[in-house]
Amino acid sequence: MPDKRVWWKEAVIYQIYPRSFADSNGDGIGDLNGITEHLPYLAELGIDVIWLSPVYQSPNDDNGYDISDYRAIMSEFGTMEDFDRMLEKAHSLGIRIVMDLVVNHTSDEHAWFVESRKSRDNPYRDYYIWKDPRDGKEPNNWQSCFSGSAWQLDEATGMYYLHCFSRKQPDLNWENPKVRDEVFDMMTWWCEKGIDGFRMDVISMISKDPAYPDGQVTDGIYGDMTPFVCNGPHVHEYLQEMNRRVLSRYDLLTVGEAAGVTIEEAKKYANKEGTELGMVFQFEHTDLLAAGNNVVGKWTLSRPSMPAVRAVLNKWQIQLEGEAWNSLYWDNHDQPRAVSRFGNDSPQWRETSAKMLATCLHMMKGTPYIYQGEELGMTNTHFRSLADCRDIEEINAYRQYVEEHHMVEPEVMLRCFDRVARDNARTPMQWDDSLHAGFTTGTPWIPVNPNYTQINAKAALADPDSVFYYYQKLIALRHANPVIVYGRFHELLGDSTTIYAYERVLDGKILTVACNWTDQPQQCSLIDERLADGGEELISNYKAHREGILQPYEARVVSGDL
Ligand code: GLC
Ligand code: CA
Repeated sequence: MPDKRVWWKEAVIYQIYPRSFADSNGDGIGDLNGITEHLPYLAELGIDVIWLSPVYQSPNDDNGYDISDYRAIMSEFGTMEDFDRMLEKAHSLGIRIVMDLVVNHTSDEHAWFVESRKSRDNPYRDYYIWKDPRDGKEPNNWQSCFSGSAWQLDEATGMYYLHCFSRKQPDLNWENPKVRDEVFDMMTWWCEKGIDGFRMDVISMISKDPAYPDGQVTDGIYGDMTPFVCNGPHVHEYLQEMNRRVLSRYDLLTVGEAAGVTIEEAKKYANKEGTELGMVFQFEHTDLLAAGNNVVGKWTLSRPSMPAVRAVLNKWQIQLEGEAWNSLYWDNHDQPRAVSRFGNDSPQWRETSAKMLATCLHMMKGTPYIYQGEELGMTNTHFRSLADCRDIEEINAYRQYVEEHHMVEPEVMLRCFDRVARDNARTPMQWDDSLHAGFTTGTPWIPVNPNYTQINAKAALADPDSVFYYYQKLIALRHANPVIVYGRFHELLGDSTTIYAYERVLDGKILTVACNWTDQPQQCSLIDERLADGGEELISNYKAHREGILQPYEARVVSGDL
């Protein structure tokens, strides 16, 4: 076997966005005790690891991705004792816990920044990135990821600080060795507590181009900072240092959120010698827009085509082979719901297409990630007005493009939100058909998707054909079949515009996967041929098949001997 065997390559990860998962005390906000109560549900699903979105103390400008104390639990989520109990219970069920590590930036309410902004010669000044004005204005034209300039003037000293995200998320200065010492100490502290890994927030952005040049203006207002903040000059050096000083001393799963990552860069971040990270999240398939069809920035009304998605995913499968390990995902807390974006969320096809997408992804090579509710086939929601939005990215984009620059009609912007807004992923987990979907007994911090009466965990657990049990089976198959974890990937039917097919090969075993991405029957003899060769069906989202045909959103997997 060319790949070194390790547990995190064989694991299936489940992401929890704590604010929206389960509220145990009726304040409308999900919390740690809510997670602990539902751990048996996750054990039933069969996942191995939880990735916990941030639970640290935070003023919640960006729902916990703005941290004011890395060693304290957000009071809305509970206490450190609650955390310890959750960790212990998870471990007793055989579930590991991976923490979100947000160290490209802190909150402006973090003690380091409170000091840093006090004066030019404060000992913490160089913990952040401060620049003098250029011609009395911002040091360059960069747009932050959450609209507006990436620079904020601080009156106290007349200088600007950099914030790639909101102005309440100042970027740390990783060039300062003291910053690295602080971050590595903090990581060690969590490792000593017994956590099992880190998902590293925008870790590809920690090293900036020291020239801070203007970026290309694409929306007529600000410049694009991406080429100057992603995969910067020292990023690999910093991660190797982190690996030497922290990661290599523990048995951890590490995954870097790597905005702007290319294949070449991924081979460094996730190199097989293990000198940096275990794997990265790439964004090419989630950033796909039908050419010329986007409204502004990431805001779009279009859907990516299957061949476009396939071209991206196959490229990552093939080009990382033997060089670096892939992560596999459709969904996370920053993305719309997979079944709405890539599948078909109509009542007729929702479950079938959700299972098809799951098959298509979970039979690939890499570590799969499931985002809370994906295992129920939860869908996007509907935004009636700005009042339905909670996410700073949506709210700021609306202000900038609709209200300030009149570039987009309000109705168009809201329809874009229906398609791609992050809040689609953040509506409360749908546990049952009682008021507020059983998420809370109070008023939820964000409206529940009205379809909770049909789509919920209670109904899924009572239906042997549910999306939930289909995911359960996919996970069990991965655990039982090394070819699903380690088999080499080969593309099949590369010319098809309707069917996504591939095979996996390991030690004399061959697995064949075929997925119909359309709502029409499509001709396909591949599966019949493999069955005629003595193959056996491993899983399918249909019980009755038709010869030579894949039915709407049908997925089939056949295992055989070479
Ligand atoms: C990452 C997170 C996202 C957050 C941003 C800033 O992209 O996934 O939710 O807003 O970083 O921390
Ligand atoms: Ca609560």
